[in-house]
Amino acid sequence: MIRILAPLASLAATAYATTPALERANGPSAQAVTINCKQACSQLSTAFGSAFHWPQNDNFTIWDAKQQEVQPACRVEPSSANDVAEILDTLVSHWCYFSVKGGGHSRNPGDSNSVGGVTIDLNRLNGVEILQGDIRARVGGGATTIQVYEALESRNLSFVGGRVGSVGMGGFTLGGGTSPFSNKYGWSLDNVYEYEVVLSNGTITTASEKHNPDLYFALRGGGNNFGIVTAFTVRTFSQGPVFTSMTTYSANQSNQVLDKVYDLFTDKSLSGNKEMGYDLYYSYSSESGQFTLSGTQRYGKPIQNPPVFAAINRIPTMSRNTNIGSMSEAVDGTDSMGTTRHLFATLSVAPSRSLLSKGLEIFQEEVEAIKHVPGLVPNFISYPLQRNAIKAMKQRGGNALGIDRDEPLFLILISTAWSKSANDAEVNRMTANTIERLNTAAKKLGVASRYKYINYASAAQAGTVFSGYGDENLQKLRGIQRAVDPRGIFTSGGLWRGSFKLL
Ligand SMILES: Cc1cc2nc3c(=O)[nH]c(=O)nc-3n(C[C@H](O)[C@H](O)[C@H](O)COP(=O)(O)OP(=O)(O)OC[C@H]3O[C@@H](n4cnc5c(N)ncnc54)[C@H](O)[C@@H]3O)c2cc1C
Ligand SMILES: *[C@@H]1O[C@H](CO)[C@@H](O)[C@H](O)[C@H]1NC(C)=O
Ligand SMILES: *[C@@H]1O[C@H](CO)[C@@H](O)[C@H](O)[C@H]1NC(C)=O
Ligand SMILES: *[C@@H]1O[C@H](CO)[C@@H](O)[C@H](O)[C@H]1NC(C)=O
Ligand SMILES: *[C@@H]1O[C@H](CO)[C@@H](O)[C@H](O)[C@H]1NC(C)=O
Repeated sequence: MIRILAPLASLAATAYATTPALERANGPSAQAVTINCKQACSQLSTAFGSAFHWPQNDNFTIWDAKQQEVQPACRVEPSSANDVAEILDTLVSHWCYFSVKGGGHSRNPGDSNSVGGVTIDLNRLNGVEILQGDIRARVGGGATTIQVYEALESRNLSFVGGRVGSVGMGGFTLGGGTSPFSNKYGWSLDNVYEYEVVLSNGTITTASEKHNPDLYFALRGGGNNFGIVTAFTVRTFSQGPVFTSMTTYSANQSNQVLDKVYDLFTDKSLSGNKEMGYDLYYSYSSESGQFTLSGTQRYGKPIQNPPVFAAINRIPTMSRNTNIGSMSEAVDGTDSMGTTRHLFATLSVAPSRSLLSKGLEIFQEEVEAIKHVPGLVPNFISYPLQRNAIKAMKQRGGNALGIDRDEPLFLILISTAWSKSANDAEVNRMTANTIERLNTAAKKLGVASRYKYINYASAAQAGTVFSGYGDENLQKLRGIQRAVDPRGIFTSGGLWRGSFKLL
């Protein structure tokens, strides 16, 4: 059966490989792709041995249950840029779809686990090499946040990494990368000196301010549209233990807390403190049946109760945990794998105390309507892109995000977890309604922003993420995409279709 159909499949492959991306919007038939991928997997299984896995005997877990349910044709784990190039060549010559997995924290089927194609799992590309002078490190494209913190801490160094240890360096840095250290150094994407990247034709190249500056610009925010990044050369800095404090408040303190959080980021005598960070949460728990306001204070020095938080700390709390320890301790946690469904959606707004109150109110009303959903844990999360981080975006030719302003920009993330696929539609609707109402409220208050953080965006927002970078940057990114990938292999008409696509 397979043998008879095989020539058809390779015909399809040849035809599509020579057809411009935009002309093949519908792609080859599902049947042709299934056969193509079987053939590609057979070839990869011979070449990759124990780093190759058929799904029926693969012990593979990924963070989100929707991605866990996906069945790829096979999974392969490259250990070098050469391996990645070989895999790409195999997939393109057979015309088989694929997804690329870094830390695997995406939330849509196909984002990082392929639906019927090949999952290229970068988890073996997890090396961390501290370079001469201790001011840079070369980090594998599939490393997780905690792996990098741990490796650097052995030399009392750190980097601009995230808040959760299992999140991947790959997706995090290609989309932005907001860190407890961002008020001092900026976002992760502004702290990468060089990318090592495999292009769609299998060429291994680098991008930096001096070498391939267009590609360097595009990789700073352009997501998975340009290549598979096999290594990031990042800024490192001396870092000792950090202060972290988690606090919850009773409902009657909400207004006070919002007042003080707003001051923290708008009053220059407080927000100018580069060691400081604060993440605000408003969450519903189906276990307790309660909405709870809470906050995480962060400080880059090992000081108990840094004075910058003095005003917030005068507010009575329901609970308070403080800790001084390393970043790797702060980000370590038990992350359940593959059992919980998740949806993220986002918007960003100029500072507005009124919008914070209005936002919590809208969120609560929308969540009330779906309280019956099993395992429901919705969160309204907000923290700002601070002035210093916006300044840092101008370094080395600037990044692709198109953010240029004198005031902070507050990111809002609506992040919901739940248990059953039967409730997917309700959670999607709740999230879309919340975002729409927040946007309307922001427009009324004159604080709306076009920018949406790609790493927090929903699939429903895919069409507007890159236009949120501004038209000039959108056109520039599309031009660079066409130049480095003229056959459109990494576009929505090509083989790597998951996540947010420019074309
Ligand atoms: C629990 C949790 C905590 C988070 N905390 C933060 C935070 O503190 N700050 C923040 O900014 N964001 C945070 N995020 C958002 C996070 O940055 C994004 O979800 C990000 O996309 C995850 O990257 P990943 O590599 O783990 O995911 P993946 O699903 O593996 O990758 C995401 C996308 O990037 C692509 N990709 C991954 N690696 C590469 C590579 N090397 N080359 C090319 N493409 C690649 C994938 O193909 C996919 O399209 C958090 C998310 C979660 C779920
Ligand atoms: C599956 O993988 C986990 C973690 O990678 C490992 O601890 C476990 O032993 C593996 N189980 C099997 C059956 O291979
Ligand atoms: C790291 O810092 C600690 C505490 O200051 C010190 O004891 C240790 O020697 C340092 N380690 C290295 C490798 O410099
Ligand atoms: C606020 O609520 C808490 C707990 O619900 C309660 O103990 C406290 O007395 C209240 N404070 C005021 C000022 O009402
Ligand atoms: C691969 O693509 C890049 C970018 O378009 C190009 O510069 C390079 O010459 C190509 N290499 C080969 C071998 O075709």
